[in-house]
Amino acid sequence: MKVTDAAEIGGGPLWVGTSWKMNKGLAETRQYVRGLSEHVARAGLAGVQPFVIPSFTAIAAARDELGAHSPVLLGAQNAHWEDGGAWTGEVSVAQIKDAGAQLVEIGHSERREHFGETVATTRLKVAAALRHGLVPLLCIGESAEVKRAGESSRFILEQAAGALDGLTAEQMARVLVAYEPVWAIGESGRPATVEELQQPFADLGREYGDATRGLLYGGSVNLDNAVDLLGIDHVSGLFVGRAAWTLPGYLRLLELAAAHPKAVAAATA
Ligand code: 13P
Repeated sequence: MKVTDAAEIGGGPLWVGTSWKMNKGLAETRQYVRGLSEHVARAGLAGVQPFVIPSFTAIAAARDELGAHSPVLLGAQNAHWEDGGAWTGEVSVAQIKDAGAQLVEIGHSERREHFGETVATTRLKVAAALRHGLVPLLCIGESAEVKRAGESSRFILEQAAGALDGLTAEQMARVLVAYEPVWAIGESGRPATVEELQQPFADLGREYGDATRGLLYGGSVNLDNAVDLLGIDHVSGLFVGRAAWTLPGYLRLLELAAAHPKAVAAATA
């Protein structure tokens, strides 16, 4: 199946995507993606670019449901930087592309914390994604400890520069960056306030706002805070875990984003 290149898909300017982390099997994936596909066909995108990131095992099934030319982007949660070889247990960018992925998440904090992901490996993975024409979704974020030390901006800018420095302007324009403070992610996280996010996004915006395809926020996004988070300067999307693991939750987030002034302005421009 020749899948539409991610560069040719552009429902934005707001991005709203979800990673299911290590959840959902084939049946649940198919049901969710089929429902999403039907919704998008019915309601249109209205200034919002959706993306869904299932487990490796379900990418092909999700692609099968979406078809080759869906406006919904499909991603993987990780990929190795080599195209193939003796890397037992790993999956390459070439392989996720073959399965139908157009986007690849790189450097999520859970991978940095538990699986030895480093700035050096995120750099190799960004390069591999670009080499194969996939959108790299680079995740950066500081721990509570770094935040307490007042080092948040320095830390995340170093993570971003370590993965992205040296890219051409054309390559950089294909990259998405998600700022996901570690202290805000998951069951043990607490939602970041708009105030706390203003400085990091001002700093990221200055360095990467115009240069990249978009700057996303992630970490305990929910139906109550999504609109306020989208309103922060330089935020052009949301990267959502738990609140989008049910299709109704995700559809509601897409609706909220579509009604946001940032999406409306672009849709009517
Ligand atoms: P939660 O929205 O469940 O906090 O997860 C965010 C995340 O890690 C997205 O990558």
